[in-house]
Amino acid sequence: MVRSRPLSNQPILVAIAWPYASGSRHIGHLAGAYLPGDIFASYQRLVGNRVLMVSGSDFHGTPITVRADDEGVTPEELATRYHDEFVSQWDALGFSWDLYTKTSTANHHSVTQDVFTKLLENGYIERRTSEQLYDPEAGRFLPDRYVEGTCPHCGYTDARGDQCENCGRTLDPVELIDPRSRFTGSTPELRSTDHFFFLLSKFEQPLSDWLKSREGWRKHVVNFAVGAIEEGLPDRAITRDLDWGVDIPVDDLGPGKKIYVWFDAVIGYLSASKEWSTIQGDEELWRTWWQNEDAEHYYFIGKDNVTFHSIFWPAMLMGYGGLNLPTDIPANQFVTFKGGKASSSRGVGMSISEALERFEPDALRYALAANFPEMSDSDISEEEMIRRVNDELVATWGNLVNRVWAMTGRYFEGIVPQPAELDADDQAVLDGVDATLLAAGTEIAEVRLKAALGTLMAGAQDVNTYLSTLEPWKTAKVDMERTGTTLYVALQGIAGLAVGLLPYLPFTSQQVLDAFGVAPSGYARPEVATGHQLPPVKPLFTKMELPAADGA
Ligand code: MF3
Ligand code: ZN
Repeated sequence: MVRSRPLSNQPILVAIAWPYASGSRHIGHLAGAYLPGDIFASYQRLVGNRVLMVSGSDFHGTPITVRADDEGVTPEELATRYHDEFVSQWDALGFSWDLYTKTSTANHHSVTQDVFTKLLENGYIERRTSEQLYDPEAGRFLPDRYVEGTCPHCGYTDARGDQCENCGRTLDPVELIDPRSRFTGSTPELRSTDHFFFLLSKFEQPLSDWLKSREGWRKHVVNFAVGAIEEGLPDRAITRDLDWGVDIPVDDLGPGKKIYVWFDAVIGYLSASKEWSTIQGDEELWRTWWQNEDAEHYYFIGKDNVTFHSIFWPAMLMGYGGLNLPTDIPANQFVTFKGGKASSSRGVGMSISEALERFEPDALRYALAANFPEMSDSDISEEEMIRRVNDELVATWGNLVNRVWAMTGRYFEGIVPQPAELDADDQAVLDGVDATLLAAGTEIAEVRLKAALGTLMAGAQDVNTYLSTLEPWKTAKVDMERTGTTLYVALQGIAGLAVGLLPYLPFTSQQVLDAFGVAPSGYARPEVATGHQLPPVKPLFTKMELPAADGA
């Protein structure tokens, strides 16, 4: 992506999808949206940009109420339980949120109502009588996930009223072929009732012009968005027959109607920015990110959320006026699981909690980042994740750090040695690490996070090659000056790579930098001081056992 951006201090909004607080999230979600966002944000902070990284738990909509009904608890109870689980997982994973909030706050409700009111005033929202599916046995309307049936686009027979999981299209329950009620299994009938509609059709041209002006977006994102516009954008109901959600701020439609979850959820990016400003003690601070042409906005989402972020939300922003549109929406595709073992109760993959029981947090971050489904779906199994941890993370990076740190302890009492004059091979290692950081930084800025990780690991491999060529464990018997220079160079190289890996491996990279007595200044190699006393060596990672081959 070619951008003329100032080198630092640029306001960058890192907007990460708001997980539904309706159940445990699995590592596919982590690899799809949350982890890429955290890595990108942490890199941007290192280069000195003003990052605002926000998200929160999505409390509303039928994903929550359907589950709460099933469990016999209130939507609030259900969502709070999972919100608490998510928050503790973010901590365990070392996430660097500026704010992780939820959509049940008074702030979020009032910002949502403000956006609704303004769009209504601007003529982009209209009250209409519409035909909705109604379950006469249950005596209620059936919004979104309360109805299932066959997808009109791809023929998938278990499509839900809000979206087809098979082809990813956004649906309206009335579009489903052979619809059935989730309450009673009966065939719903059409009844008319009033709702508010967002006039998406008015944005076909402006959205199409805007999308055409975007550069460097992932092909699958552009194709999906452009395709949706070419098919025509229907006006969309943005209220629902539900009693859980944000209240409609105007024109009482009567009881049992709320704002549609997707209308309020995307507004979360704005409301969270405002909440963060308030916490900072400066109510106006959010404007630096939202009303500033120098600001850039990156949305980290899975491909099932592309419509709402590339069409629906930009249209809402255009209709509201005066707010920044997305700079890029680097949506990931899906992670699929081949190993039966890596399957949680619902068969969708290992949950984040299960993964955190099995993997150290940095090891988990590594295994997922090395498999990010950036361009296409990527298949993963627990075995493969463990193999990546052992054969790549531990073998290439962990062992490098360990060996050099241990030899410095053994031959120099842990004191960073004074080098002799560096020869061409020594200098090449340092230059190589500098070039690695430059290349990886460019890749991360372009949201090619898997490639950047590969670049950094290749950089680590080069330092390993240097060590096996110079064999400091052998020269230590005959030439302490040469040994000192080799270890000095390796220590400098490791410090540089640790800075490079900080966004990916926040815990262990920080452990290295602390031990080496350096703090990063930019995304660049810091200078480890000669004479610095290293603490006793402590391995960064533990080698993992493969799960027993029980065929499961
Ligand atoms: N809750 C949605 C999901 O889990 C994502 C919402 S992203 C939002 O799929 F920002 F738009 F809220
Ligand atoms: Zn479909």
